Amino acid sequence: MGNHIHPTEFKISKADRRKRLNQNPKLIWFTGLSGSGKSTIANAVEARLFEKGHMTFSMDGDNIRTGLCKDLGFSDQDRVENIRRIGEVAKLMLDAGLVVISSFISPFKSERKLVAELVEEENFIEVFVDCPLEVCEQRDVKGLYKKARAGVIKSFTGIDSPYEKPENPAVHIYSDQEELQESVNKVIEFVLKKIAD
Ligand code: PPS
Repeated sequence: MGNHIHPTEFKISKADRRKRLNQNPKLIWFTGLSGSGKSTIANAVEARLFEKGHMTFSMDGDNIRTGLCKDLGFSDQDRVENIRRIGEVAKLMLDAGLVVISSFISPFKSERKLVAELVEEENFIEVFVDCPLEVCEQRDVKGLYKKARAGVIKSFTGIDSPYEKPENPAVHIYSDQEELQESVNKVIEFVLKKIAD
């Protein structure tokens, strides 16, 4: 192993943790534009899974960009590093046996693919929260689109920074056309089978 790193063999294995928690750890990865509804849907999905007795943990911009990634901005390079770190943390949480729910714009296909490979494709459930830019901009819950249009915020996703849509998401949410509960049900239905497999 390079750099003189010698991994420890832990006495408690991933399989032991899996058995104890009685669930298959999965990473539910919500991606979509700012204001598309990622966090709202992800939050409701976590609450439903937790109610059903699953051990879950949620990550989103608010708890990651104020801590682990507070040194990062919104250049392409920083977004790549943001997602790389989140992927590594998610991997550790999967090793701990949890069902992880993450909610990040994650605008680049290549980074989402990298996370999928890191946690192993079969454990990665991509949920595309699809909402037209015009609708997100009209909602403008945080007032950020207005600032981006005015040039106060630079490199804003959908305005002057790209968002690459997933081509084949496991679950496709149309948040401008569906009620919240309908979107939540779609995710839950897909995910429960995988967790219990
Ligand atoms: S990324 O692209 O995945 O690294 O972004 P993420 O960590 O999910 O952070 C997105 C939230 O940061 C706020 N914000 C911005 N978003 C996009 N572009 C720019 N320039 C920007 N500046 C601040 C915004 O509130 C995003 O939150 P959501 O929940 O997506 O609206």
